[in-house]
Amino acid sequence: MAEIEFSIDSLSKSEKYQELITQVPALLDPSVDWVANSANLSAALKEVFGWLWVGFYRKVSEERLQLGPFQGPVACTFIHKGKGVCGTVWEEEKALIVPNVDDFPGHIVCSSKSKSEIVLPVYKDSQFWGVLDADSENLNEFSLVDLENLKSLIQSFEKHL
Ligand code: SME
Repeated sequence: MAEIEFSIDSLSKSEKYQELITQVPALLDPSVDWVANSANLSAALKEVFGWLWVGFYRKVSEERLQLGPFQGPVACTFIHKGKGVCGTVWEEEKALIVPNVDDFPGHIVCSSKSKSEIVLPVYKDSQFWGVLDADSENLNEFSLVDLENLKSLIQSFEKHL
């Protein structure tokens, strides 16, 4: 079993990402399905950054995403293509940083505590597979630092899809 040491409280955000990028490939197990790996990646991100919510939504039909493994408060089970931040990322196949969720038309509120959000597409064999979604209780939590580093972590995850 992979064991990861995350005693990195004093590090900057970029340094935390560097630790994760080093350690996450060992956490992801090529012998298991996406459920275990997405659960562990969600847990690692939650533990390191303490965000309100972090997890996956997976495409289950041409119309909707279904909630996958996550860490945080309960969340809506389905999101339709084009709806909310996650459904928009699917439709546009482009990551989105939302500095203030109240300013995003059609944002789907899963927790009233969520103030900002980042959502990135995840691909399997170059086809859209789902999204990684993270929510913060702080406004303006997410930046290009998160975008670039989460992309890198997602690339490690995609190898095992
Ligand atoms: N806010 C998201 C919904 C998912 S939750 O944040 C966990 C959206 O607008 O798509």
